[in-house]
Amino acid sequence: MKKLNLRNLKESKQKNLQMLTCYDYQTALLLNNTDLDLILVGDSLGNVILGYETTIEVTLDDMLVFAKAVRRGALDKFLIVDLPFGSYSTINQGIHSATKLFQASKCEAIKLEGAFPYQLKLIERLTQTGIPVMGHIGLTPQSVHQLGGYFKHGKKEDDAQRLLKEAQSLQDAGCFAVVLEMVEEPVAARITQELKIPTIGIGSGKKTDGQVLVINDLLKLGRENPPKFCVPVADLYQLKKDLIEKYLINQRS
Ligand code: KIV
Repeated sequence: MKKLNLRNLKESKQKNLQMLTCYDYQTALLLNNTDLDLILVGDSLGNVILGYETTIEVTLDDMLVFAKAVRRGALDKFLIVDLPFGSYSTINQGIHSATKLFQASKCEAIKLEGAFPYQLKLIERLTQTGIPVMGHIGLTPQSVHQLGGYFKHGKKEDDAQRLLKEAQSLQDAGCFAVVLEMVEEPVAARITQELKIPTIGIGSGKKTDGQVLVINDLLKLGRENPPKFCVPVADLYQLKKDLIEKYLINQRS
């Protein structure tokens, strides 16, 4: 499958884009040999790889280590890397962090959460300097404390209107795509209809232009159950546990 670029991505409305997260070299090599469209080195690595309670603890240096590992394995995929919490609190800091991440990881794009006016300005500046940006609205985990928890967004009309406006502003600022996380399905559908750029949903129903999942949830690599919206394709936690227990029994017999 041919590697995507920004020109064909912008034309990917209704193309059912599939994006998965990835955090390590071996999985990146595997995904590189599938027809997956996009790989995201998400700051969800804070939860599923580093065992943090929230993504707030993830640093730019953490992201660099994992992004470089994934890049080495997935040379033929369009790679997007998250800007972590605290690395884009001002426009200047955001330009500095995004430039470092983009240059050192050799990714094709970065992703950042939110659509406040300073973030829109930052996106404008980044795209003008040649760094493609994916937006992310709805549930933005880096703001979990400010939001007051993890919950579905767009239930009330004023909230839906705000999301619609944010998505439009992200498009106007130059984002090539926008992640809609935990957005009510009808609102995600409305945003998808109104935007020219593709929307990529997670926990936002089926009417977006694409879907993203955390690979650890899809494969059930962890002990805990994945979020309700993710139907795992396997239970690799149990499988690995069984195999290791069998190995230990054999070793000791
Ligand atoms: O960090 C992440 O994995 C993400 C996806 C859930 C969109 O931002």
